[in-house]
Amino acid sequence: MERVFDLRWRVLRAPWNQPRGSEQDSLENTSRHIVAVTLEGDFWGVGRVHWNSPEEAQIRYMAVEPLHGGKGIGSRILQALETFARESGALRIVLNARETAVPFYCKWAYNDIAEAATLFGCLAHRRMEKPL
Ligand SMILES: CC(C)(COP(=O)(O)OP(=O)(O)OC[C@H]1O[C@@H](n2cnc3c(N)ncnc32)[C@H](O)[C@@H]1OP(=O)(O)O)[C@@H](O)C(=O)NCCC(=O)NCCS
Repeated sequence: MERVFDLRWRVLRAPWNQPRGSEQDSLENTSRHIVAVTLEGDFWGVGRVHWNSPEEAQIRYMAVEPLHGGKGIGSRILQALETFARESGALRIVLNARETAVPFYCKWAYNDIAEAATLFGCLAHRRMEKPL
């Protein structure tokens, strides 16, 4: 998990000067984690799903190594998280997307349903939802 946290921190927290540790929450042990790993053992992408209720799953912490963005890694992680949530009985999946990532989730049929919290005083987010 240290390598998962390291990739999350570098992609999702360091550019906004957030401390190590801020890339984790209290749900890590009860969540499903998906990691894209090369044959050499390098971590190129990570993502996580947890449960808000038996019907509702939530994706958090999607992060792809910037050098390897745009190669389909994020899409494959997203699909694996959705498949796991669906097979575990979730009826819908939700997430809070930073505005720059909204087109990525729209491509995968997520609906933009509401404004969500702004992170670090500057990163606007949208609440997105997809029926499974
Ligand atoms: C968002 C993110 C996970 C996408 O992963 P990725 O591996 O680059 O995405 P993929 O290559 O699987 O797919 C990208 C597809 O979405 C589209 N897209 C639209 N807007 C995009 C955006 N802002 N970022 C990435 N892809 C975007 C691309 O055009 C591409 O479609 P195509 O295959 O038809 O060309 C990755 O860019 C990332 O880690 N971004 C920084 C952190 C972040 O924003 N995480 C999400 C937090 S809510």
